[in-house]
Amino acid sequence: MQKVRKAIFPVGGLGTRFLPATKAMPKEMLPVVDKPLIQYAFEEARAAGIEQFIFITGRNKNVLNNHFDHSYELQKLLSEKEKKDLLALTRDWLPEAGQIAFIRQQEALGLGHAVWCARHFIGDEPFAVLLADEMILSPKPFLKEMVEAYGKKKASIVGVAEVAKEKINQYGIIDAEKEQDGLMKIKGMVEKPAPGQAPSNLSIIGRYILEPEIIPYLDKMLHVKSSGGEIQLTDAMAEMVKKKPFYAMKLKGKRYDCGSRKGFLEANIAFALARADMKNDVREMIMEFAAEF
Ligand code: G1P
Repeated sequence: MQKVRKAIFPVGGLGTRFLPATKAMPKEMLPVVDKPLIQYAFEEARAAGIEQFIFITGRNKNVLNNHFDHSYELQKLLSEKEKKDLLALTRDWLPEAGQIAFIRQQEALGLGHAVWCARHFIGDEPFAVLLADEMILSPKPFLKEMVEAYGKKKASIVGVAEVAKEKINQYGIIDAEKEQDGLMKIKGMVEKPAPGQAPSNLSIIGRYILEPEIIPYLDKMLHVKSSGGEIQLTDAMAEMVKKKPFYAMKLKGKRYDCGSRKGFLEANIAFALARADMKNDVREMIMEFAAEF
């Protein structure tokens, strides 16, 4: 059984849900508290044991490459001034040389297409997919739990969480059997179902462990423009579910959809409250706001 060593980060999207902030800046560089979304996702993957990080980028995304590189001028200045803590924030978390790769997705054709663009890097190994605009706060690192479950089941797994009825049409929704040993066997899934047509309220939350067999299913989807006119990963997974065991793991924690303005604000507050150095100030600030409005 192969270990999950590779992670794909689709970051080629145009960020239309977050204009004007994302006009010239990739949405994955939006900061939650003081760290860009993409760095949280990268650190989450590394904590789950991932060794190779593959970014699927597009035009106007070069700042993402730069974020994962040295910033010599800044580092020189901080080291001369002996600002050790700040220096650490610029470089101590960087991947090792050779651990990170960037693949150009020339057209933003959808999540399914983005994953397909990584096919030569994926080869015949299982891999993780992380959508950086979904942030997770959970007692146990969720992707790590998914990787461990893959080790036992040797089958693809998607992370899911319950969503409110009115948000069901914004996500991939699964149809699954009852939970057993922390996993639900998936019977089917559908991308952004119309109201009243969803098989459940369990939404896919941007964390996937996929077997390489997904690639031929994506090949078949390349000419199928589905939900939103895009090539959807969910469509390929829905076909694979018919032939291979596929599981869902329910998040025991909170997810913040930073693709929406409200989710982004929530994430900023939640992540600030989770930090020992900010908790008290932020709590006080919220109390003041609550009293005022
Ligand atoms: C994508 C997936 C969807 C999933 C969602 C999670 O949608 O296609 O299945 O539920 O991410 O955030 P997007 O947000 O790119 O429209």
